[in-house]
Amino acid sequence: MAFLTLLLGGALASVAEAAQPGAASPVAAPMRELQWGQLNFLHTTDTHGWHGGHLQESQYSADWGDYISFAHHMRKRADDEGRDLLLVDTGDRVEGNGLYDASTPKGQYYYDIYREQDVDILCVGNHELYQAETADAEHERTVPNFKGKYIASNLDYIDPKTGKMSPMAQRYKKFQTKNQKLNIVAFGFLFDFTGNANNTYVQPVRNTIKEKWFQDAAREETDLFVVIGHVGLRMQEFKDIYTAIRRLNWHTPIAFFGGHAHVRDTVRFDEKALAIASGRYFETIGWMSIDGITKKIGETPTTSVSFNRRYIDNNLLGLYHHTGLNKDSFPTDHGRNVTKMIAQARTELNLDYTFGCAPRDYWMTRTPYPGKDSIYTWLEEEVLPDIATSKERKEKARLAILNTGAIRFDIFKGGFTRDTTYIVSPFTSVFNYVPDVPYIVAQKVIKLLNNAGPILKSLSTIPDARFMGIPEQFATTQSIIHQRTKGVAHSNLGNDYQQPFGQDRPALVGGYTTIDDMGNDGDDAVHSPIDFYNVPNCVQAEIEFPSGREPDTVDVVFLDFIQPWVLLALEYAGGEFTAEDCTILIPLLFVS
Ligand SMILES: *[C@@H]1O[C@H](CO)[C@@H](O)[C@H](O)[C@H]1NC(C)=O
Ligand SMILES: *[C@@H]1O[C@H](CO)[C@@H](O)[C@H](O)[C@H]1NC(C)=O
Repeated sequence: MAFLTLLLGGALASVAEAAQPGAASPVAAPMRELQWGQLNFLHTTDTHGWHGGHLQESQYSADWGDYISFAHHMRKRADDEGRDLLLVDTGDRVEGNGLYDASTPKGQYYYDIYREQDVDILCVGNHELYQAETADAEHERTVPNFKGKYIASNLDYIDPKTGKMSPMAQRYKKFQTKNQKLNIVAFGFLFDFTGNANNTYVQPVRNTIKEKWFQDAAREETDLFVVIGHVGLRMQEFKDIYTAIRRLNWHTPIAFFGGHAHVRDTVRFDEKALAIASGRYFETIGWMSIDGITKKIGETPTTSVSFNRRYIDNNLLGLYHHTGLNKDSFPTDHGRNVTKMIAQARTELNLDYTFGCAPRDYWMTRTPYPGKDSIYTWLEEEVLPDIATSKERKEKARLAILNTGAIRFDIFKGGFTRDTTYIVSPFTSVFNYVPDVPYIVAQKVIKLLNNAGPILKSLSTIPDARFMGIPEQFATTQSIIHQRTKGVAHSNLGNDYQQPFGQDRPALVGGYTTIDDMGNDGDDAVHSPIDFYNVPNCVQAEIEFPSGREPDTVDVVFLDFIQPWVLLALEYAGGEFTAEDCTILIPLLFVS
């Protein structure tokens, strides 16, 4: 039972062209060009089932079929010019959109849609591993679909019948590029994830890099290392891999591709090592190009290596622009077929079925919390009181706690569809509660969850408290935690981009205005900035409180995902409770 199915019950009033039918039409923006090099990459990450594109957001409304057409034209150009192009995907392809989540079993259509793209190097994300069935499907479908391309440097799969543990896929890959004949050694990592089901084993990166196979591979005389990983660029795991390779191999360039943090970002490790992260939810197709790679294996290179990067909006008009094509010449037969496959899957899954209408936009981070446009304030005030309630306990005073990470996307004004339910909260969470907690104890819990990171973190038995929050905040890079100040909106518009169709400055569409280690010119489309406000780990609603006084005891209600932190916070606050004290709350809405 998804928590969002509940949300629908109480909260919404009733009502009723690009890639997918009904998708918002794209809007042109001033464009920055792609900088082609000897070797070029297209990168997707954290697509979370959004292979149908963003039907409600014009700047990201191209679909996986369009990406297939795009990659085809880009490969052709690379071939024509004697350059190389490689496609990379760094995991979390599943969970987060009806196209994946709405079928039983999940992913009934996704695996066949995804495999149509010819991805050259891919790895796993944590979302492929939470549920045993998802990891099984990854092992049975995606790995064979991408045989020789899937890399699992620190991931093992445990066979359910024999209990035997073996690498999910090859540990690394050595190959030569098609046109330039560049020698490449590639790795594929996952961060030190511990929340996986018991049919996989994730080896901590610091241990993997000590293994002989890795040490040997990192000593290879090659033209380039490619390290892909479902790892935030600024997380320790990438630093460790970088250091380990550099210790053995001083000169060879390294290209890193990361994800997990859901941000556009670039980190420069040194003159010859660059890392990019390409956002989330198939909003972004990352671009990296490298020039000056020398083929004098074993010798100190004489030329310097140069890297470039772009974050391509998944916008059809932008894809036309970068290929020099138009709506007639752009789609390939293959791309059109996949667009049709997606449309058919969406129809069969009834994803456009409308439950109701959101009367206005509710934002996660674009407005301050608390505030009238905050999705979290709306949840506290209007949703939680309706859904965090059961027949037996409905008169009890209670605190209902929701972790902000349980919400994954904004709600846009307009139709609230079956797809929206999976988009906003893909997690199959339930509410648990601890009954009759002295209020003097219970009232301290929310503060501990939000402000006592260090205290909660000091216990190695439970994960970092920040896991309760949203992944976008985990990155803690200056580049994303920003807030618009007056006048800044246009300050980053240099003369380094082209106006579309010879127009004078068109009205800019709100979108990414990324600042990373290489500057502020990474985004391919020039946007006006969107605000980003931090949110706490958890929010809380006070329900059925007596008027004019504090209750003596309350029920503490929370999503099951955060139970370990809640129990620990209760303990710090002076209450001893264990998992046995936690009961599933059967919401009233489900009883009727
Ligand atoms: C893995 O977990 C499942 C479900 O909780 C359990 O039935 C199974 O015995 C576990 N397997 C191992 C090897 O621990
Ligand atoms: C597209 O689909 C048609 C009909 O299913 C099929 O005959 C054709 O081979 C497909 N073309 C490509 C390039 O996939």
